[in-house]
Amino acid sequence: MSQNNVFEYYNKQANWSFDQYGIMSESLTEWDLIDLIKRFSTPGSRILDLGTAGGEKVISNYPVCAEILATDYSPEMIGTAKKNLEKSGRTDITFKVMDNLNMDVPDDHFDIVTARHTITAPDQIIRCLKPGGHLLIRGVDKYDCHELKLVFGRGQGFDDPVPVSITDYEAVLRAGFADVELVPVHEREYYKDRETFLDFLRRVPILNICDEDRTIEEDLLDEYIKRNTFDGRIRLIRRCYGITARKPG
Ligand SMILES: C[S@@+](CC[C@H](N)C(=O)[O-])C[C@H]1O[C@@H](n2cnc3c(N)ncnc32)[C@H](O)[C@@H]1O
Repeated sequence: MSQNNVFEYYNKQANWSFDQYGIMSESLTEWDLIDLIKRFSTPGSRILDLGTAGGEKVISNYPVCAEILATDYSPEMIGTAKKNLEKSGRTDITFKVMDNLNMDVPDDHFDIVTARHTITAPDQIIRCLKPGGHLLIRGVDKYDCHELKLVFGRGQGFDDPVPVSITDYEAVLRAGFADVELVPVHEREYYKDRETFLDFLRRVPILNICDEDRTIEEDLLDEYIKRNTFDGRIRLIRRCYGITARKPG
């Protein structure tokens, strides 16, 4: 899969949000990125959010601070985020187009950098954090939705020799961060019916990565649904990971 396909995929998703699916979810673990932001921040903090997409989570969940810069390499996503910001009335947030792998932000500037479900370059992130500043990463791991991927014989990270959580963890350590912790973040999600679940799977890069072909084989889908329906709802087990780290100093 080329990086151009990924870029085009996200540009096309800019006017779409998970909220419309009414997904019920329950946490099996305690790590929560928003709780950690609230714990580490003060009203004077400067926060950078990488790969922010349409900005919904920053606008709704991040505490009001001196400065929040939220970035994404998709101009379409940033366009949507700016419209969402206007509706919110918040004045502490700025959105800008930026590639996480070619960061254009001042050195020693931010108290907290967050990255949720996006690619990161920890060696660049460490430069823009103040000494003592925190890095918080949440990512989707190799074994996310694994039973579903086994039924289809494919999916995001399915063939990775090393889980992405480990690759990220090592990159954070190698960049020179201190107090680096990698923890599992597991959740059960429930979808209200087959139609909603199928639509969701056609949208997200769980089975079909970001390729143009959004085909979901319905016989395999039915096999998964048969084994994973509880009280009329379809269950999906999400396996994510969280990384916390601190810039020395
Ligand atoms: C799965 S979405 C996550 C969105 C958001 N952080 C959240 O938690 O809802 C991934 C986002 O990362 C962005 N992205 C992917 N690669 C990127 C890169 N190299 N630089 C900046 N943004 C990137 C995509 O455009 C997309 O908006």
